[in-house]
Amino acid sequence: MEKVLRNFFLFLSKNKFFTKLAKKYGLRFGAGRFVAGETIPNAVKTIRELNEKGMSVTIDHLGEFIDSEAEARYAAEECIEAIKAISENNLDSQLSLKMTSMGLDISPELVMENMRNILDAGKEYGVFVTIDMEDYERCQKTLEIFKELRSEYDNIGTVVQAYLYRTVEDMEELDQYNPNLRLVKGAYKESPKVAFPEKKDVDDNFKKIIKMHLLNGNYTAVATHDDAMIEYTKKIVEEHNIPNDQFEFQMLYGIRVERQEELIKEGYHMRVYVPYGNDWYGYFMRRLAERPANVAFVLKGVFGK
Ligand code: FDA
Repeated sequence: MEKVLRNFFLFLSKNKFFTKLAKKYGLRFGAGRFVAGETIPNAVKTIRELNEKGMSVTIDHLGEFIDSEAEARYAAEECIEAIKAISENNLDSQLSLKMTSMGLDISPELVMENMRNILDAGKEYGVFVTIDMEDYERCQKTLEIFKELRSEYDNIGTVVQAYLYRTVEDMEELDQYNPNLRLVKGAYKESPKVAFPEKKDVDDNFKKIIKMHLLNGNYTAVATHDDAMIEYTKKIVEEHNIPNDQFEFQMLYGIRVERQEELIKEGYHMRVYVPYGNDWYGYFMRRLAERPANVAFVLKGVFGK
């Protein structure tokens, strides 16, 4: 049943009609539990609250699978405004973004122009930028963009997904760029031709890439809500005397909040991924796919408590 629900929500996540409707009608159905609001001031307020609890943040202006140049340019401008707001408000926050929101499905030139503008602003205001990883179809192109930009900028990192067969090889190839990588299990619906269909294999590969990246000396963000992966990371770090400034844990806003606070108390660096903006629908559907129990929150949002 879980698998059926997961596939259903992942199918819904790419529905253009519902995406448009969601933008028009604003945050609904309990999505506010996972999204910090629709505007930069909403995001600033949330980042400040998290910073006060000792947590770092990465903010994400929601947007994906954009197919018009004007929208991609607007998304890039929003990112630059967010970078300025981080600096003006003295916040401890990085920025995360998706290549399809920068125009990946339109033209490579547009993406590179948008990204260079954002990274220049990031450099000027001291804000680090992470390129999220999207579906398999875009993985190769995203990594190529990362490599080109990494040769020009220090303030850029990206994400690799444990569910893909190709990831270990990608990491070996990326090593020469000393990449700052966020390691995740992977959130999209992929074919067994390209991704491990069984959770156990995904978890095994996740452990493999956590160890691999921690031991090669590059900065590692372990992004998961899974206690088994968190404990495994702690074990490797302890066994190999990896200093606290070489890795961090990351979780999504609104998920396992007490666990986030515990990790801070234990002395680990915790970063929370905070999405904001009106294009919340696809993000929200992927969160429901990950944990159908979250559907209870949707039902409360629809029918009241
Ligand atoms: P998983 O979903 O297997 O959950 C494992 C366990 O965690 C559960 O069994 C439960 O014990 C606990 N758990 C999970 N959710 C819980 C909840 N709501 N309440 C209580 N317990 C809960 N993906 C991607 O493809 N590209 C990307 O760029 C990113 N970026 C990203 C950034 C950050 C900061 C995070 C945390 C995640 C991503 N992801 C992502 C999403 C990622 O790929 C993955 O889909 C989710 O993190 C879910 O996988 P977990 O590792 O959390 O474990």
